[in-house]
Amino acid sequence: MANKVPEHIAIIMDGNGRWAKKRMLPRVMGHKQGADALDRMLNAAGKLGVKHITVYAFSTENWKRTEEEVKGIMGILREYINKYFREYANSDFRVDSIGDLSRLAPDLQEDIARLKEVSKNKTGIHLTIAMNYGGRDEIKRAVQGIAEDVKNGKLEIGDITEELISERLDSYPTPDPELVIRTSGEYRTSNFLIWQTAYAEYYITDKLWPDFTVDDLKLAIEAYQNRDRRFGGRNEG
Ligand code: FPP
Repeated sequence: MANKVPEHIAIIMDGNGRWAKKRMLPRVMGHKQGADALDRMLNAAGKLGVKHITVYAFSTENWKRTEEEVKGIMGILREYINKYFREYANSDFRVDSIGDLSRLAPDLQEDIARLKEVSKNKTGIHLTIAMNYGGRDEIKRAVQGIAEDVKNGKLEIGDITEELISERLDSYPTPDPELVIRTSGEYRTSNFLIWQTAYAEYYITDKLWPDFTVDDLKLAIEAYQNRDRRFGGRNEG
């Protein structure tokens, strides 16, 4: 366990709004700084040996924010997806998404599909962006698919195992995260990867996401390494 770097880190990038408010800036500026913070993190995480990063960019609840803010976040997503597309040929990272993309603007859906396709064989850091994502919504859609298969005789009720449910989630086949980082001092899961994080360690820091640095990432990994992960059983040693 000691010194093991988590293969998959999930991040709840919270505090962008507060970061902007402290500087009397529009909230969307906080999200822009947040996207830059993510860029710094991706470079560093790959070097540290992390293989997968999943970030919560837009939740199923975030539609309730003002139109201006929703537009602002969508604009940043579009800008970064296009930036990653321009860079993919000369870089080694793979980009994926989770969430119900059908509610996003059609051009954004196309840009995401195009980026996923061109980067799918890259072997460097694997970034999954959660967009219009909710853990309950993801499980609901998986259950609907399974129920459909039972109805059509493709599956028996006895075939429904935990593994099967995992396989029907958007995140499949990415392994479950071992570490969840949440910034800005909130102690909630906020419907993020609620199935996949059943055994994950949480690292919560008061830092606002745009202020989160590579040193903070290292601190989070060290904290994870110092935890005693028991998985409900004996210490794995
Ligand atoms: C939470 O902070 C953050 C969000 C709801 C949006 C995060 C989105 C980005 C950083 C852009 C992502 C870009 C890419 C490329 C994936 P908050 O607004 O809830 O902050 P607050 O709690 O201080 O108000």
